[in-house]
Amino acid sequence: MTGRLIVFEGVEGGGKTTQIARSQQWLEESGWLEFLQTKGYIQGVAQTREPGGTSLGQALRQVLLNDDGAEPLDDRAELLLYAADRAQHVEGYLRPLLATGTLILCDRYTDSTVAYQGYGRQLDLSLIDQLNHIATNGLHSDLTLWFDLPVELGLARTRQRGASDRMEQADITFHQRVQQGFQVLAHQFPQRIVRIDASQPEAMVAAQVQDILHTYLSQWYAPLP
Ligand code: TMP
Repeated sequence: MTGRLIVFEGVEGGGKTTQIARSQQWLEESGWLEFLQTKGYIQGVAQTREPGGTSLGQALRQVLLNDDGAEPLDDRAELLLYAADRAQHVEGYLRPLLATGTLILCDRYTDSTVAYQGYGRQLDLSLIDQLNHIATNGLHSDLTLWFDLPVELGLARTRQRGASDRMEQADITFHQRVQQGFQVLAHQFPQRIVRIDASQPEAMVAAQVQDILHTYLSQWYAPLP
């Protein structure tokens, strides 16, 4: 059995979280899950996220996203907390599940650190690459779906959802730099990162995701009969 790590990335308000849930549902309803399990290719599907995929990660997520205004979080402290969350997630959750043959749908991974802390906070990119390497110990995603949409549209969507978190509250130029970071990454790693037009309605975004998953699953395992 061989698990795979599928990552969902992008700026705020791109609908990643909804699309992860829809993807799992589609895997079940399309017959893919049953096929892959029956053939012994995988044992199951799991959903997770960064930050927050472990108990430690839940605590770090609170610190990272809930701003009580008491003490501004230093940019380098922020970077190290995301890295700590990732190291724990990789060793305590992702690697063990991949080893047992799980298809993992993960909300954000290393590209978010490059885009947010590298481009957004403008911390040193080679330092971030090193930290990503330390945190992952070399575990790369097998496929990254980049939910691309204009920053203004994404932020408007998050505002509609209600109270925004510490990262969402950053100014628009920060989010524009983050967006630029994702654009550069997609250009740099075309073999791993696939762009999704996330400005479309939810059902059309889901159709794009399903199309890509169908193609990759067929290549990784076997075509669905
Ligand atoms: P989300 O899970 O709701 O998308 O929120 C996570 C927030 O954390 C989001 O604003 C992106 C940010 N983030 C970073 O800045 N760096 C990282 O490495 C990760 C994983 C997330």
